[in-house]
Amino acid sequence: MKKLIVYAMIAGLVIFAASQFVRPTFSNPEVIPGQPIEDAGTVPPELQMILSRSCNDCHSNKTLYPWYSHITPANWFMADHIDHGRSHLNMSEWGGYTNDQKVRKLEEICEEVSAGNMPLPSYLLLHREAALTQDQKDLICRWTRDEGKRLSNPPPS
Ligand code: HEC
Repeated sequence: MKKLIVYAMIAGLVIFAASQFVRPTFSNPEVIPGQPIEDAGTVPPELQMILSRSCNDCHSNKTLYPWYSHITPANWFMADHIDHGRSHLNMSEWGGYTNDQKVRKLEEICEEVSAGNMPLPSYLLLHREAALTQDQKDLICRWTRDEGKRLSNPPPS
């Protein structure tokens, strides 16, 4: 019986070691000046700090990859979150959205944050500093509402 456990452990280690060669490719696409949400000129600095801290890792091209991002299988979960996150909302490519898309995404940002869905709870386990206080959620929603209104009623040009 003991022998079996030892064999199982060795097999586990071998599989773990071999799996290290199977890695997703991580990348940070280039950030083009003028495109990031902070370049729109309407995001107050204190809000920008919150978004950078709590959302950038999955919703921007400025992801910080921690040491465990190099370890299989953690890296696959991360790659999936980042791919998905960016495809729904990429704050580094904000300028590429149409006005309508921006208005919709602003609404979703407030909804997701208020509901506690974002930042992803699994992310908060390892990034406690990313958790949002009620005041921070309120700040986000006040801005998304104001910015949504501004974009829905562009000044006559
Ligand atoms: C650990 C990664 C991660 C972090 C951090 C994170 N998100 Fe997300 N976010 C995702 C993923 C993954 C999805 C796609 C969810 C899905 O497919 O159901 C998503 C989706 C969204 C969506 C789109 C919802 C929709 O219906 O299309 C919004 C808006 C959003 N996140 C806002 C935020 C905001 C704001 C923050 C920071 C306060 C944040 N997220 C932090 C991973 C993350």
